[in-house]
Amino acid sequence: MPAPTNVLERLKIAGQEHLVRFWDELGEAEQAALAAQIASIDVAALPRLVEEYVHRKPAFELPRDVEPAPYYPASGRGWDRARFRAAGEGMLRAGQVAAFTVAGGQGSRLGFDGPKGCYPAGAVTGRTLFQFFAEGLLAAGRKYGRPVPWYVMTSPQNHAATLEYFEGNRWLGLDREQVMFFPQGVMPTLDMASGRVLLAGKGEVATNPDGHGGSIRALHESGALADMQRRGVRQISYFQVDNPTVRVVDPVFLGLHAGAADSSGEMSSKMVPKIAPEERVGMFCRAGGRVQVIEYSDLPMELQRQRLADGSLRFLAGSIAVHAMSVEFVRRLATDPAFSLPYHRADKKVPHVDPEGLRVDPDGPNGVKLERFVFDALPLCGSSIVLETDRVEEFAPIKNARGPDSPESSAGLQTRRAARWLLAAGAFVPMRGPDDPDCTIELSPLTASEPDDLRGRRLAPIGPGARVVV
Ligand code: UD1
Repeated sequence: MPAPTNVLERLKIAGQEHLVRFWDELGEAEQAALAAQIASIDVAALPRLVEEYVHRKPAFELPRDVEPAPYYPASGRGWDRARFRAAGEGMLRAGQVAAFTVAGGQGSRLGFDGPKGCYPAGAVTGRTLFQFFAEGLLAAGRKYGRPVPWYVMTSPQNHAATLEYFEGNRWLGLDREQVMFFPQGVMPTLDMASGRVLLAGKGEVATNPDGHGGSIRALHESGALADMQRRGVRQISYFQVDNPTVRVVDPVFLGLHAGAADSSGEMSSKMVPKIAPEERVGMFCRAGGRVQVIEYSDLPMELQRQRLADGSLRFLAGSIAVHAMSVEFVRRLATDPAFSLPYHRADKKVPHVDPEGLRVDPDGPNGVKLERFVFDALPLCGSSIVLETDRVEEFAPIKNARGPDSPESSAGLQTRRAARWLLAAGAFVPMRGPDDPDCTIELSPLTASEPDDLRGRRLAPIGPGARVVV
């Protein structure tokens, strides 16, 4: 039996009829699964995407008037930190804030088999990334007297494994009703040479998660936004799955985002000063009066190297991918039929089945993945603000197996932060030099989510070279 005419016709118009090439060899269930997969793809949009992103590979156009985005300095100079903190605490006490983790990425750089949130990130015990976030949320719930609802975006590839992990670990101490999971959308993966959709198997289309930018529609389509509205949530604290020291809900940032005179309260961001021009982070820039993130690969190196008279980098503000977004802003975008974020192309090695039905494990990139980035929504805000923060305090991501942004560098940053907080609280911490502890410390967010949480606690002295959990 050939493939059903309606499926075949849709595919033919888009030049993708090879997707049912092996139809006759499939069992009934496999045929049904393939037909359902094809039905979920916007096949009609493919010819334009192939033309624009595969055959042409769009060049990034640097806006002519690009300049560094202004930011609120971490020092608190020129703005009233205490006032915005009080406002953010009020939002948390009123139950108006939800946490949102994007955890749908494939984590291939780290070489970890499983949802990245299950990665043992703790410097001493290997506490998982999800555990860090759960403890941060538990602590916030206790401090502000209202549980913070937590939404976790998975991908179809890791959804079941993520749920299994939470179920197997009793929801990490949280109330079951407090945590919601939904999978993000996918895009078909395209063959770099022909633009045809790759087959992962004879009865399976190769797909990739559609990028964290897919979260805007997924939040709406999954019912998460409606759930937030039912709970009275107004603001979303957005963060990535890879950073164990992230402040899952930061009252200062939330208050500033919602209340600063130059913020429309729609979408705001946190930055850390870049260490070096070559550091691979997106940078907050401004063009046409709008804040935007330009990826390190897109901002010309001569601009990234520019320095101000005091020697500091002119394009200093590196994105740590922490945002605050209003529920209303996300709803407005997600329900606007004209809303669309641009795609970004990534060339990857994609194992697949060739036209003869043979498995191919390519040596070099052969596939094009199209992804959307959430920060491309920033220019759609009325006005968007950026808050500077300290790298040691809030940014210890785990992305690579070794080197920068690795488990080792993260453990070092976790320890430095814990040492600062413990020293400030009067504890003894062995130091090799300033900001250079001679020990390894894993700090539970339940013990402290910020330095003041340690005030007045009895803290045991730490021995040189010790590995301790506080
Ligand atoms: C990202 C940012 C970069 C920022 C840096 C800070 C992008 C393109 N770049 O880089 O500007 O400076 O973090 O750490 O995001 N994810 C999904 N679904 C997807 C793809 C990704 O949920 O389809 C999630 C991942 O699980 C992860 C996060 O998004 O939590 C980041 O993804 P990744 O592609 O690893 O971005 P980075 O290169 O680390």
